[in-house]
Amino acid sequence: MPILDPKKIKELFPIFSKEENKNLVYLDNASTTQRPKVVIDALKNFYETYNSNIHRGIYDLSEKATKMYEDTREYTAKFINAKSSEEIIFTKNTTESINLLAYTLSDDMLQKGDRIITTSLEHHANFVPWQTMAKKKGFILSVVPVKDDYTLDMDKFEELIKEQNVKLVCISAMSNVTGTIPDIKTIIKRAHEVGALVMVDGAQSIAHEHTDVQEMDCDFFVFSSHKMFGPFGVGIVYGKKELLDKLPPFLYGGDMIKSVKETCTLFNDTPWKFEAGTPSVADVVAFKKAMEFIEELGIENIKNCEMNLAKKAVEMLETHKQVKIIKPKNLDESGPVISFVIEDIHPHDIAEVFNKENIAIRAGHHCNQPLMSHLGIPATARLSFSIYNTEEDIERVELALKKLFEIFAK
Ligand SMILES: Cc1ncc(COP(=O)(O)O)c(C=O)c1O
Repeated sequence: MPILDPKKIKELFPIFSKEENKNLVYLDNASTTQRPKVVIDALKNFYETYNSNIHRGIYDLSEKATKMYEDTREYTAKFINAKSSEEIIFTKNTTESINLLAYTLSDDMLQKGDRIITTSLEHHANFVPWQTMAKKKGFILSVVPVKDDYTLDMDKFEELIKEQNVKLVCISAMSNVTGTIPDIKTIIKRAHEVGALVMVDGAQSIAHEHTDVQEMDCDFFVFSSHKMFGPFGVGIVYGKKELLDKLPPFLYGGDMIKSVKETCTLFNDTPWKFEAGTPSVADVVAFKKAMEFIEELGIENIKNCEMNLAKKAVEMLETHKQVKIIKPKNLDESGPVISFVIEDIHPHDIAEVFNKENIAIRAGHHCNQPLMSHLGIPATARLSFSIYNTEEDIERVELALKKLFEIFAK
């Protein structure tokens, strides 16, 4: 497997060549990645050359814009190996994608007393919508806990899946805190055996792992463009066509209708019935360039390169006995996300000292307060890697850590 040259790749991202960012070490990729020039150029090109609204203009410019928008839908379907582009819905982010499913599934497919299983590894985006719907509609929400080694407690999952009326499992393919990759295939297989649907939150996995929704056999898969080198403002819902056809619309208004009379409305077909109002056309069009960019580099090459760095970062952190790493020991069970804590130093102080050294990391609860409560900590500091990170970045992190220890020794 060829190893990518991160220094050459870094040159493809304009942000790193700006004078004010010359020394920037960017390690907050789990939050949002940087954008390569091809994506930024595609955005500019759309506004300069094709800008018009889609689906309704009977003129060339609008028809071209519509084609570019629908081409991205087609490309997205191929990117995750969906059966057809009709299984792809554009939203504005993963959070909206999950809300779309939470509202429409709760309206139509779930009944009072039905059980939804989620896990304590979930981002609030994949927890709060289900918790809220459970309260509103009388569903029972069960939470699979994480074990002391930061992997999912599969024995507990097995216990919960055997309960009566399990109808839905909502699980992340990679944790944004610990990097944990659960055994999704087994979870989906077991869920289907008891007749439950599975929604996979791919917000973290999409930029690091090969995604094949047919092979995975999930019923729904959601992710965000901005975590995979694409523009902000684009979320994706993949759903099996026969399921999407059964769901009611999420939002109502223009573009999601076929015809309206004073007394009733005929909704559009899947997937357009889920896309009310003017979408983020330019962002969706430029998102195609982000997927092409990933495919040109090769997802396996990307993964190799990032995991190589993550391994080196873990080895470096392990040499500092004050540091406690919050991540599965077996790196094959996790992605390039490393949370850590240091006794008597708040993660916000770690991030502030790192910031003074021009290193951008994330510190906080990472929108996962149930996990923080479970671990008995208020927050973690988190390093998350992408393809433009280098071994020098890890050296810079180590120097920053030494500075931190000096400051707090005083
Ligand atoms: C696992 C996971 N799910 C969902 C989200 C929400 O994504 P977005 O902010 O793009 O809606 C995030 C964001 O960090 C995430 O890490």
